[in-house]
Amino acid sequence: MTSHNLDGFKKAAALKAVEFVRDGMVVGLGTGSTAKHLVIALGDHVRAGMKLRGVPTSQETATLAREVGIPLLDSENRWEIDVAIDGADQVDPGFNLIKGGGGALLKEKIVAASAKQFIVMVDHTKQVPVLGGSFPLPIEVIPFGWGSTAREIERVTKSPVILRTRQGAPFKTEAGHFIVDVQINRIDQPAELETALNSIPGVVGTGLFVGRTNIVIVGTPQGVQTLHAPQR
Ligand code: A5P
Repeated sequence: MTSHNLDGFKKAAALKAVEFVRDGMVVGLGTGSTAKHLVIALGDHVRAGMKLRGVPTSQETATLAREVGIPLLDSENRWEIDVAIDGADQVDPGFNLIKGGGGALLKEKIVAASAKQFIVMVDHTKQVPVLGGSFPLPIEVIPFGWGSTAREIERVTKSPVILRTRQGAPFKTEAGHFIVDVQINRIDQPAELETALNSIPGVVGTGLFVGRTNIVIVGTPQGVQTLHAPQR
């Protein structure tokens, strides 16, 4: 499967997600290659007269949204977000996610948590029977004492932890934090793990999104599937 094929499946999922956006809505705009398709398609709707306001989850998304003409709300605000739409790195059958491959997990989680509805768009390779394994779990940590925080994360997860770097230096998130990636073979109890990780001083947030997703839209070679989570 080439990345070109996968991009087509991501785009198909994004175009389906756009159908959930109605005139007048405030929309949380995710980050990543799938979210890019979403933002471009929403820009087409805005130019056709749809009234939307966006809340971007990264500078990258904010820049693209402005380019395509989507009006944005202030980043420091008390938003009323109707729907947040984002990509993911893994989705399990219980609609739990790993996110943060692009490093925007903190803003993505804040926006998802502020939205009445959270829709996730993926290509079919992101669907997994259990989280973990092929994709390391990103965890955003405070730079101060990050090595000690990483040691605690290792103790809790019993898994190796690697500091994410870019061009030889620690990768910095937009909030000025570091990210450590944890190679966990199986995350059988994501809710318990999220709680345990969040209680470690120095951890700002994890890429585990548990119990937040209402709809998963999957682009597959056989077409697009729309999966609804059971009512919570
Ligand atoms: C960004 O931090 C991530 O959470 C992305 O949403 C996730 O990595 C999915 O990215 P793609 O849509 O590029 O696969």
